[in-house]
Amino acid sequence: MSRLDSFIRRLEAQRACLEHAVELVRDLPGPVLELGLGNGRTYDHLRQLCPEREIHVFERQVAAHPDCVPDAARLFLGEIHETLPRALETFAGRVPLIHTDMGSGDAESNKRIAAFIAEHLPRLLTAGGVVIADQDVGFAGAEALEPPVGVKPGRYFLYRMP
Ligand SMILES: C[S@@+](CC[C@H](N)C(=O)[O-])C[C@H]1O[C@@H](n2cnc3c(N)ncnc32)[C@H](O)[C@@H]1O
Repeated sequence: MSRLDSFIRRLEAQRACLEHAVELVRDLPGPVLELGLGNGRTYDHLRQLCPEREIHVFERQVAAHPDCVPDAARLFLGEIHETLPRALETFAGRVPLIHTDMGSGDAESNKRIAAFIAEHLPRLLTAGGVVIADQDVGFAGAEALEPPVGVKPGRYFLYRMP
């Protein structure tokens, strides 16, 4: 498979998982957390999938398309190690959907961030809440969910809080 094919499949998997997860939590109230704004592509897609929800975004440095930058009130600007603990003060136990996409080409750094995020997930999520992730962020008590049809296991990750 060429790198182009692999990139396209990753984005297809990401989109399929976002759409699947939004359906899974349709009846759970609460905000969405988007960890990693990047270009704003998945943020924009989530906005379209669930226009009725508040979406709060975590990003160290905004470089997204101008149409895809959240209001300051919904942007946790800074290092995730500082912003995610701060978010607990507001969102503890009441988040139905979290998408984390903070990976880079540095495998060791990815592991460290994934472990840090995994520690915080159970404290943020509401019962039945779902996590969609680019890395393995399996957290204590997590139920690993099958990916939607057409997505190869391991390409993207889905978990549910019991
Ligand atoms: C792969 S991109 C996100 C792509 C985005 N989901 C999209 O669809 O455009 C990862 C983002 O996470 C951010 N990021 C990575 N590590 C971070 C950290 N430790 N704290 C805050 N943001 C971080 C990067 O700045 C980058 O914008």
